[in-house]
Amino acid sequence: MPLSQRWTLTRYLIEERRRFPQAIGDLNALILDVSLACKAIARIVAFGALDHGMSLPGQGGSVNVQGEVQKPLDVLSNEIFLRMNEWNGHLAGMASEEMDEPRQIPDAYTRGKYLLVFDPLDGSSNIDVNVSVGSIFSILRAPQTVVDSGRDVTEADFLQPGATQVAAGYALYGPTTMFVLTVGNGVAGFTLNPNLGEFVLTHKNIQVPAETQEFAINSSNTRFWEPPVKRYVDECLAGKTGPRGKDFNMRWIASMVAEAHRILMRGGVFMYPRDTKDAGKPGRLRLLYEANPIGFVMEQAGGRASTGRQPVLGILPAALHQRIGLIFGSRSEVERIERYHQEPGPSEAPPPLFAERGLFRA
Ligand code: AHG
Ligand code: MN
Ligand code: MN
Repeated sequence: MPLSQRWTLTRYLIEERRRFPQAIGDLNALILDVSLACKAIARIVAFGALDHGMSLPGQGGSVNVQGEVQKPLDVLSNEIFLRMNEWNGHLAGMASEEMDEPRQIPDAYTRGKYLLVFDPLDGSSNIDVNVSVGSIFSILRAPQTVVDSGRDVTEADFLQPGATQVAAGYALYGPTTMFVLTVGNGVAGFTLNPNLGEFVLTHKNIQVPAETQEFAINSSNTRFWEPPVKRYVDECLAGKTGPRGKDFNMRWIASMVAEAHRILMRGGVFMYPRDTKDAGKPGRLRLLYEANPIGFVMEQAGGRASTGRQPVLGILPAALHQRIGLIFGSRSEVERIERYHQEPGPSEAPPPLFAERGLFRA
């Protein structure tokens, strides 16, 4: 299709806004600023080990609130998200994987009605080996009390179920840079045209294929899995002669955003389930800026996102950096794994620390 006939992200957003005649364009402007941050991050990621002239001397190497060592690009990407979004007047506050506390909008700027939550660089262990990474974002409405008073935001303001997200998506810095977005009306994928510096609509109304023969899980954790997950994987591995009657393929990129994209494109199921590896961590991935936005995208694309026990988007978060078991992808496979969690078995009695009715329940 000639470029002149393609929609840019800007046009897509304008066409979407026509559904809401009362909308004044704040959300669109915010999403465009998020996409600009992603373009900037795509550039610095593309420079790899070269000196891109944007490094922050002395930054990186510290430990974030997750207890993970921050890479310089984690810190730089976080700064880019902050700088590109703090000034526009659409936000009441921001929160990120790389910041312990919510970030206030500086006094110099107007405060708005949305909250932006993000993982500025997902899969960052892959940076040094030149494997795909990405950024994930979620846009929530700020509570009315915040909007009315213009007060500082608190952690509690962000603790909203994923089902309340206004928009969410991710950028993938792969062989091409893509921006994948939902504003609650399906999922659209945009490819960065490097000549124009524009995201161009290349994937309309993305649908996760319902059936799949591909799964993704870090199998080095096998000994920590709960019985329903072990059963599911065992059945996949048993292949044609097993209960599933077909062979399965396995992939693990260690970059959730890249796995999510593969699953949107050709189906599959991703699992980073709750396991028994570390009593202090009910899962590896974070609810607010990993599970919820990817969950929203999956559900909007006809897929499903679950902890195995309940839909991700229904969980009332208890903390900004809360971790959660996450299973998403082709609907029928996720539903099957949910069924395995419901069927009686040893999984019925998880240790109290892990029970969703225990410590980690809101
Ligand atoms: P982040 O780089 O933002 O900390 O997230 C990494 C996450 C996710 O992208 C990936 O699926 C998972 O961690 C990889 O975990 P393993 O190292 O256990 O494979
Ligand atoms: Mn991440
Ligand atoms: Mn990250």
